[in-house]
Amino acid sequence: MTLTTSIESRIDTLLAQMTLAEKIGQMWQISGKIEDAEAIVRRGGVGSFLNVIGEDARELQRIAVEESRLGIPLLFGRDVIHGFRTIFPIPLGQAATFDPQIVREGARVAAREAAALELHWTFTPMLDIARDPRWGRIAEGCGEDPYLTAQMGVAMVEGFQGEDLGDPERIAACLKHYVGYSAAEGGRDYNTTWIPEGLLRDVYLPPFHAGVKAGAATLMSAFNDLNGIPTSGNAFTLRQILRDEWGFDGMVVSDWNSVIEMIPHGFAADEKDAAAKAIAAGVDMEMVSHSYVDHVESLIAEGVLSPDFIDAAVRAILRLKFRLGLFERPINNIDPEGVLLAEDHLRAARIAARESCVLLKNESALPLDRQFGKLAVVGPLADSGDDQLGCWAFDGRSDECRTPLAALREALGADRIIYHPGLPHARSHDTSGLPELAQTVGEADAIVLFVGEEAILSGEAHSRAFLDLPGAQEALIDVLSATGKPLIAVVMAGRSLVLSPILDKVDALLYAWHPGTMGGPAIADLLLGEASPSGRLPVTFPRSVGQIPLYYNYKNTGRPTPDDAPSIPTGTPLDPKNFTAGYLDVDHRPLFPFGYGLTYTTFEYSDLRLSTMRLGMGETLTATATLTNTGTRAATEVVQIYVRDLVGSVTRPIRELKGFQRVDLAPGASQDVTFTLHTDDLAFHNAAMQRITEPGKFHLWIAPHAADGLRGEFEIGRSA
Ligand code: GLC
Repeated sequence: MTLTTSIESRIDTLLAQMTLAEKIGQMWQISGKIEDAEAIVRRGGVGSFLNVIGEDARELQRIAVEESRLGIPLLFGRDVIHGFRTIFPIPLGQAATFDPQIVREGARVAAREAAALELHWTFTPMLDIARDPRWGRIAEGCGEDPYLTAQMGVAMVEGFQGEDLGDPERIAACLKHYVGYSAAEGGRDYNTTWIPEGLLRDVYLPPFHAGVKAGAATLMSAFNDLNGIPTSGNAFTLRQILRDEWGFDGMVVSDWNSVIEMIPHGFAADEKDAAAKAIAAGVDMEMVSHSYVDHVESLIAEGVLSPDFIDAAVRAILRLKFRLGLFERPINNIDPEGVLLAEDHLRAARIAARESCVLLKNESALPLDRQFGKLAVVGPLADSGDDQLGCWAFDGRSDECRTPLAALREALGADRIIYHPGLPHARSHDTSGLPELAQTVGEADAIVLFVGEEAILSGEAHSRAFLDLPGAQEALIDVLSATGKPLIAVVMAGRSLVLSPILDKVDALLYAWHPGTMGGPAIADLLLGEASPSGRLPVTFPRSVGQIPLYYNYKNTGRPTPDDAPSIPTGTPLDPKNFTAGYLDVDHRPLFPFGYGLTYTTFEYSDLRLSTMRLGMGETLTATATLTNTGTRAATEVVQIYVRDLVGSVTRPIRELKGFQRVDLAPGASQDVTFTLHTDDLAFHNAAMQRITEPGKFHLWIAPHAADGLRGEFEIGRSA
């Protein structure tokens, strides 16, 4: 008998013993150790808790196992989004590493620390494709590209779950928010989403499909109304796609109250109706709201819901508990001492933070020459642990953060550092301190300025209509720029900001996202040249918020604006040559494209060659280019491959990322970089929603980012 068979037969046995009330109890997740938690547990009235950890969890688990009738263990979940106590960069920053290995390690570390506090389940990775940085939750995902998001999501699933969910140091992952939540109109959180099925299947679903194929144990339905059907009551996505097409046998949990929010959506008449719709659609466990425990017995008695739906949901829940080994090991009893903030955890967090930083400008200002006399460290985010942790850093602690100010003082000696916050805080408009600032930095040889967004401006329910630096931070930059000293800006933020107003005023700009516990040492390593920046942008950076949505894999339109066209037309209304898809008042191109990032050397791409110019359906080609480090410092390049399907039965994007490789090269060294493409890698959904690859001509680029590269051409024939 295999483990799987034994689990299924153990589920059968247990299910047969359960009363309807006990089955329904398993389908409820409570947040926190509420007042009558113990009584509810004792009667088998709950299956899971979120936000209960450590001794509280052990106590409730003991009651569940020893005092409830069937002794079914509880499942403890929490948002361990980018670290538990050792906080890694926000997921958007982790995506900027283009390094699945360090992302996998970060998830492993997070799982190890969370499991030491009795947690079995985290509500991550968030795989929502984000094309709108006004949406505060862009911070929690992996950016705008389906391929990069899929690679990072799979790495997180592997890091959290490992090879065996029963491993005491691994926890279940949760793919969220299923699906399309990030396409909220206007970038306003929780807002309506309209996503044509072809776009849903080619852009928003692929990362979830990759996560399911990687063995993700759970998914979370979302808040959004998707094409008129809320995703927590959407049988098309939850049953037809997830269960029938993908064969997912894990468990689906709702988002917080998302079941009863179908009432304000106008999709459910009341909580009883919401419960019926969510269960019938395929939401196995209700998070926080309790419409299931309140109404399912009567829904069954009235014949509205088949008991089969309940058995299917409870099977999925029990299957997860068996797979986690909770019946054999309901309590981990791991001593957190020596696990939390372990040296190897902090080292991994430092590497992740270092690799997440993206160098967007550098005019001979970085790396800093250690020979200078004094360095001015300025800005409200130079010494703010809470802010560098970013959103969803529940168990991270500000006083355990190593800030940039502390790291630079440690690296250079406190006597060489002149510190001034500049503003009371990052959103402050109080410029009264600026005259003193100008004085203070007078004796410094160079200035490093830390600006950006506080963590509180990022994450859930934190959408912004303007994407400039908040408060008087631009005024702060003006004062420092006027000194004429080398000015390096380090931006911490949970999204792509509009940097146009400051870019010309700084000599270098390093984008650090919200870098986590070890953000300070990581940034200091880069500023001082201990390592070269290697991060690349996982999202497009606009020149203006008015350009949004702006992403690299757009459709060409019938009137594309050539890149060399005057983006601000000078013609007259009768001048047809400028009637293209641009703006009258801003360059139509991004400020920085997807995949962009500088480093402390220069790289040259040469000699692109393809294994064939023509391949049959089902065949593969290899594309190779030579990469040379033409500068003076060792560095890492993220080599990317993009393709374009020139003509399709439906219009196709002008570029799509199909691979990337991090390549370390010493100065003067060269290396061939090879990618393999299979015709299936070029598949898309046609108008009939068939996933196909069509014959025809293609372009490919081996490139440093989405707006450049060596271009090759190939053709796919109708048959092999
Ligand atoms: C929140 C979020 C979700 C999170 C859950 C539990 O509202 O939407 O991402 O995992 O509730 O905290």
